[in-house]
Amino acid sequence: MPESSKFLPFALDTNDPEFRADRRALLEQAARAAIAYLDAENESAVEPSGQAVAALERFREPAPELPASANQVLELLTKVAAPATIRKTAGRNFGFVNGGCLPAALAAAWQVSAWDQNASFFVQSPAAVTLEEIALGWVREMLRLPEGTGGALTTGATMANFTALAAARHALLARQGWNVEEDGLYGAPEIRVVVGEEAHASIFKALGLLGLGRKRVVRVPVDDQGRMRADSLPELDDRTILCLQAGNVNTGAFDPAATLAPVARKAGAWIHVDGAFGLWARTAPPFHALVEGFDLADSWATDGHKWPNMGYDCGIALVREPEQLHAAMSIRAAYLLIGERREPTDYNPELSRRARGVELWAALKSLGRSGMAQLVERTSKHARRFAEGLHAAGYEILNEVVINQVLVSFGSPEKTLRTIEKIQQDGTCWCGSTVWQEHTAMRISVSSWATSDEDVERSLQAMLRAAAEVNGELGR
Ligand SMILES: Cc1ncc(COP(=O)(O)O)c(C=O)c1O
Repeated sequence: MPESSKFLPFALDTNDPEFRADRRALLEQAARAAIAYLDAENESAVEPSGQAVAALERFREPAPELPASANQVLELLTKVAAPATIRKTAGRNFGFVNGGCLPAALAAAWQVSAWDQNASFFVQSPAAVTLEEIALGWVREMLRLPEGTGGALTTGATMANFTALAAARHALLARQGWNVEEDGLYGAPEIRVVVGEEAHASIFKALGLLGLGRKRVVRVPVDDQGRMRADSLPELDDRTILCLQAGNVNTGAFDPAATLAPVARKAGAWIHVDGAFGLWARTAPPFHALVEGFDLADSWATDGHKWPNMGYDCGIALVREPEQLHAAMSIRAAYLLIGERREPTDYNPELSRRARGVELWAALKSLGRSGMAQLVERTSKHARRFAEGLHAAGYEILNEVVINQVLVSFGSPEKTLRTIEKIQQDGTCWCGSTVWQEHTAMRISVSSWATSDEDVERSLQAMLRAAAEVNGELGR
């Protein structure tokens, strides 16, 4: 036997005290490594070094013929993979819309992995199914959505958009006497989909997956913040899905739901809201006016892994009439012991799935509604501070900073991109680039519970340093 076979994953007697001691040692070692990783977050660069990324090549080998000990597996992850991660856990990662992971959610994730539950239906895991149901109810309450709304947990908002839009597709076609789940879209009556010009890419992906087509949409012009222009809304009817957006990924702007949603409801259209992060602004009283009207929708997509900081991954699809979602997603087979209660698998595209409802429950339990509201307010305050600091230094802020998103230009596209590159290399913080209505910009998304005032000041200084260096290189 090779030396690496000491703690093999098979032919073990799980009652053997020696096995138990080895397993305990392994898991304690894993926990120690994870804690050390977290403890190092303030001293470490957010972006991994080129050397660490290059070292990932060590993992490339033909499919291993011989087993390896679990300790050896863990050691490789700790020594080679961990240094090549992006420091998402630090409060200075402002890339994409990356939430952090609250301690309670992380602890819950460890439990979930130890339990190894399949959250498909109740018989498979009473605990996972019950906590998921409760967490979904809390999300509905915190977001102030209509009573009776039900939904599903998915991997992310992309799948939540897909899931909710599958319910919309079902409902609109059923109204016209067409059963899309049974008969598909061949020969089906046409559905019209209306989206804003700045709808998120995931909406188009979801429409493509649903056979509704990425291109076969009516695009409504938007203003300079990406908000749908109410005066350009086309005629709607009960064969139309209107996709509104709560929180543009670049500007954070909200479509004017208070104006548009009543019109769409009156016309009998299905209103879907993509609120991957922005919908959570409904938890915070200072933002109530901004997010008015979104509760009039028929379906909503949002994320647990963005503003609620429950760690990856968790999307949330909500539907006002959950039976429409059930009709789109339910599955039956003799061996699937589907009961009378709410079974998760009847509401989402998957059968086997991680018990992410437990992690969502843990995040929401540890935050409470007031903690969630504070998280929204605090991260938005941080965003305003970034905008103020950058503007005071003479750089252009391209958006109205309404929530937690900032777009800044450091001058020409070349200068902006070079500044971003320098910021990433410096490692104090991490920001990505975008093009907003033809202007190259740096995106700052403050979405983590872990971001402190000090993180913001430190990061702001790093940004200003990088921008000054670029001005030195390329001229102001
Ligand atoms: C508005 C919006 N919709 C959808 C998504 C996709 O979310 P996910 O990455 O969780 O699939 C995002 C991601 O940032 C988003 O901002």
